[in-house]
Amino acid sequence: MSMKIPFFNNKQTKESFHYTEDNTPDHIAIIMDGNGRWARNRGMPRVVGHKEGLSAVVKIVKVAVKCKVKVLTLYAFSTENWKRPNAEVDFILRLPKEFLTIYLPDLIANNVRIEAIGDIENLPTYTREAVQHAIDRTRDNDGLQMTIALNYGSRHEILNAMKKMIADVNEAKLSLDELDEQRFSRYLHTAGMTEPDLLIRTGGEKRLSNFLLWQLAYTEFWFTDVLWPDFSEKEFMHALEEYRQRKRRYGGI
Ligand code: IPE
Ligand code: IPE
Ligand code: MG
Repeated sequence: MSMKIPFFNNKQTKESFHYTEDNTPDHIAIIMDGNGRWARNRGMPRVVGHKEGLSAVVKIVKVAVKCKVKVLTLYAFSTENWKRPNAEVDFILRLPKEFLTIYLPDLIANNVRIEAIGDIENLPTYTREAVQHAIDRTRDNDGLQMTIALNYGSRHEILNAMKKMIADVNEAKLSLDELDEQRFSRYLHTAGMTEPDLLIRTGGEKRLSNFLLWQLAYTEFWFTDVLWPDFSEKEFMHALEEYRQRKRRYGGI
């Protein structure tokens, strides 16, 4: 439960670490679920699970860097999560600052670029400023892009995209004839990002919970019962192995 988890200073050499770069997904999205149950199973308050979940984030970012994943999108707080008790919401929304205060130097040293998707403007100042600071400090990095989905809801995102698009049509910046999927996707928070190749959901539930509904149209899904705080490098590599066996047809044969 300690926050002082060694991040990138591991002693594992590239050779001792079993992985292949062949057919590694470029973009992996993760629904990090099961923190509350992890804590409850130990007779502890739910927030302990959220805190412990940070160590899993550290582990997975590290292995994603090692595997040369290009984009890692992490679902940290949904637009529906506001329904939770205030104290839990408050605790979760303080975690980005806590995480970045400790790990931003490591992330910078490892060429990670931080991005955020979601309604960031309507987050508490301490959350918004910590995330914005990390985005600004890592803007020029060109290694792993770590996208944090915070106050993110896909329907909200699509509806907003539609409103902005209609405004552009009304102002004659866009004509309906030239509107296609590619142009529409530029109005989403994920504008300019590739779509996820692989979606991982921990915690046993088999649903999307309003995550990236547009972007996941042809994504491969991988589910595990493992609760997020227990999610390990081994599990992650297992997901990658299974992904490599999948045949993506996109409707073809
Ligand atoms: C996921 O864990 C983290 C967030 C939604 C913020 P949960 O808090 O949903 O944990 P469970 O699903 O209740 O175990
Ligand atoms: C999805 O988990 C959101 C995040 C992991 C941030 P939830 O725990 O909120 O999803 P539901 O409520 O089980 O669908
Ligand atoms: Mg949950």
